[in-house]
Amino acid sequence: MGLKKKLLLLGILCMAAAIGPAVRLEQTVGGGAVMEISQKPPLVALTFDDGPRNSTTGRLLEGLALREVPATFFLVGSRIPGSESLIQEMAAAGHQIGVHTFDHIQVTELSHRDFDLQVGKTRALLADILGSRDFWLRPPYGIVDATARQWADGPLILWSVDPEDWKDSDVNRIVATVTEQAEDGDIILMHDIYDSSVDAALRIVDTLLARGYCFVTVEQLMQLRDTAPERGALYTSLPPGR
Ligand code: NI
Repeated sequence: MGLKKKLLLLGILCMAAAIGPAVRLEQTVGGGAVMEISQKPPLVALTFDDGPRNSTTGRLLEGLALREVPATFFLVGSRIPGSESLIQEMAAAGHQIGVHTFDHIQVTELSHRDFDLQVGKTRALLADILGSRDFWLRPPYGIVDATARQWADGPLILWSVDPEDWKDSDVNRIVATVTEQAEDGDIILMHDIYDSSVDAALRIVDTLLARGYCFVTVEQLMQLRDTAPERGALYTSLPPGR
């Protein structure tokens, strides 16, 4: 089987296993009793902040499509004009799209009016392109307070694995950090505006798929973990049995 087909198959198989009923393995134990083991694949959500950037985000979308892997993108509003078709492509491929403010600004520094402009203007731009839907917020730098949580008008998505991919362009370091740390239910933070991050993300996908991990959007991760998104709540990861 060619690499392309093999990667696609891994992505589709893990998705089917994650969404479908638990695979039941019957195992005969001592005394002839039959033990049932439920097996669900471990899940991770890859998330990308600070885009879109046509060159790098476009290449990432191609790589994810080849592997049939969904991700979540938190977009910066000021970067949206000029990337409309890319964003349409993103949504059509099944990726989740959220907002990361208009100017990539720390939300705890904002008045209520400016918060609404930063988040609302970005949501309105996305609604123009994709139609009205929920666009969850990831606050820049992960900094929020009780007031901003109240203003967010939806769940706020943080992360549990951060390879600091903006710090250098060392693809090997980024891949190693994520593949060593990732566990079932993790939300991984990366940035799709760097070529090195795109290279690292695709290698991370290949490594974790080969380990039996399944990639889902943050929304799918919450659904599969029976967690209803709450307005103003912060989510960093969704481990099993939460
Ligand atoms: Ni950011």
